Amino acid sequence: KKIAVLVSGSGSNAENLVNYFRKGDLARVSIILSNKKDAFALVRAQRLGVPSLYFDRNDFYNSSKILETLKEQEIDWIVLAGFLWLVPSDILAAYEGRIVNIHPALLPKYGGKGMYGMKVHCAVVENGEKETGITIHYVNSRYDEGGMIFQAKTEVLPTDTPEMVAEKVHALEYEHFPKVVAQIIAEQ
Ligand code: GRF
Repeated sequence: KKIAVLVSGSGSNAENLVNYFRKGDLARVSIILSNKKDAFALVRAQRLGVPSLYFDRNDFYNSSKILETLKEQEIDWIVLAGFLWLVPSDILAAYEGRIVNIHPALLPKYGGKGMYGMKVHCAVVENGEKETGITIHYVNSRYDEGGMIFQAKTEVLPTDTPEMVAEKVHALEYEHFPKVVAQIIAEQ
């Protein structure tokens, strides 16, 4: 199976996915697509030898360029890893049930537009939460509201800073995201 990973930032999850799938023969990350020209994820793709493509808002929402690229590349699955835009309806329709996202919190809490990265961990700490974690879910037309696939939790100590929480959450992402994606691909 062929996976396209969509990114907007550092790409540590994208790198983890590339390396995980290279160990087996179930699937491959065939392309990494970024909506940010300066995303470090594009540097990672270069270093990993994974084809990558930068696209802008016009490409994504006002053209069929990305969908055509996905079809040309015979992509079967789309994985969002730190991707911060809503997926346009033509791609949602073409890949219904085959687009997966990871969110660094226990949805439905701390989700929705604008809740990403350190903002999530700051809110969790400010609200004195006792735990946080990751949510892996299918993607639909609204931020962070698709069908739930998997959640993993970690405790938040009163002495934890948002950076310490981020570190614990990233650890959960690296441990679980590739395995969960592999599981749902294998089940289809
Ligand atoms: C991760 O925290 C992920 O849960 C969220 O965005 C962040 C992406 O980090 N969706 P990276 O770009 O994979 O390093």
